[in-house]
Amino acid sequence: MNDIDTRTRLHQSLAHPQLTSDGGIRHFICVEGLSCVQLECILDKAMGYFDAHGRLVNTDELAGKTVMNLFFENSTRTRTTFEAAQKRLGANVLNLDIAKSSTNKGETLRDTLWNLEAMSADMFVVRHSSSGAAHFMATEVTPNVAIINAGDGWHAHPTQAMLDMLTIHRELCVKYGKSFDELSVAIIGDIKHSRVARSDICALQTLGVKDLRVIAPKTLLPKGIKRYGVSVFENMEQGLAGVDVIIGLRIQNERIGSPLLPSTNEYFKNYGITESRVKLAKPNALVMHPGPMNRGVEIASGVADGHQSVILKQVNNGIAVRMAVMAMAMQGQDKAKGLI
Ligand code: NCD
Repeated sequence: MNDIDTRTRLHQSLAHPQLTSDGGIRHFICVEGLSCVQLECILDKAMGYFDAHGRLVNTDELAGKTVMNLFFENSTRTRTTFEAAQKRLGANVLNLDIAKSSTNKGETLRDTLWNLEAMSADMFVVRHSSSGAAHFMATEVTPNVAIINAGDGWHAHPTQAMLDMLTIHRELCVKYGKSFDELSVAIIGDIKHSRVARSDICALQTLGVKDLRVIAPKTLLPKGIKRYGVSVFENMEQGLAGVDVIIGLRIQNERIGSPLLPSTNEYFKNYGITESRVKLAKPNALVMHPGPMNRGVEIASGVADGHQSVILKQVNNGIAVRMAVMAMAMQGQDKAKGLI
């Protein structure tokens, strides 16, 4: 069984538990299984959290709700923007210190979660190194608590995908009147180990992108990649020609068992996003990266800080998207429980 088969099977089993019987979001586990209309609803809801000057607003949609952030893996941007979003929605926020929790004394994840649920949690935001962890929590452990996936292993990072979509929407659709179906998008680098790549590919295709390219050396491409319906390039010069959006990815060293790259210098020489390569794309092409970035490995510093970079806008958009997803999931969860 190849990488794509395994992931497709995982998605088939993961796609549906996140929806309420009338198609609302109850948990947010992955982009797979959501329609174009559902993704557009998330984008519309997120857009509503910006005022006329583009500043984020506060609401009371999660007032009286208790949200727990369970990050079993490192994170800076994702964890902080989730917390910022929860506070803007008026939630009670608890951050579990995993390093000091009883999971380190042998307690199972199931027991930890049941105990946290007994403390009246309404929502868990979860990051875990195991693919499928968020789905396991939603369906087998705590079905009465809304689960938001903040990244599980190689599998999915749905809020990152949606903040990437919001960034493209704001920077190209709202500003220049473009629509997703006329955009060319290139994703570069460690496609094989990246949950961001997997979720971005699905979200872009669901929103209508037809010209979707991945650029990477063979060793960083999953087997069966062509079945995703993307064009595959091993050469940056060909892959970047005329694109509207360039998405760089971090080399996932922590998920790579054996060295797949001869050296980082060599990688930068062949696959680095440099000033001269960016010129091959459309004149106002967006340069994106989910962070954390390795400057001089995936991207030249001048590009990361340059006028086409929207990397810090992605971070800000992450707050609005996370507000949208959490507000919608809480509403779906309350509806499923018959509370509204
Ligand atoms: C990504 C992640 O953790 O999957 N980062 C993020 O959430 N901002 C990408 C990465 O770690 O490379």
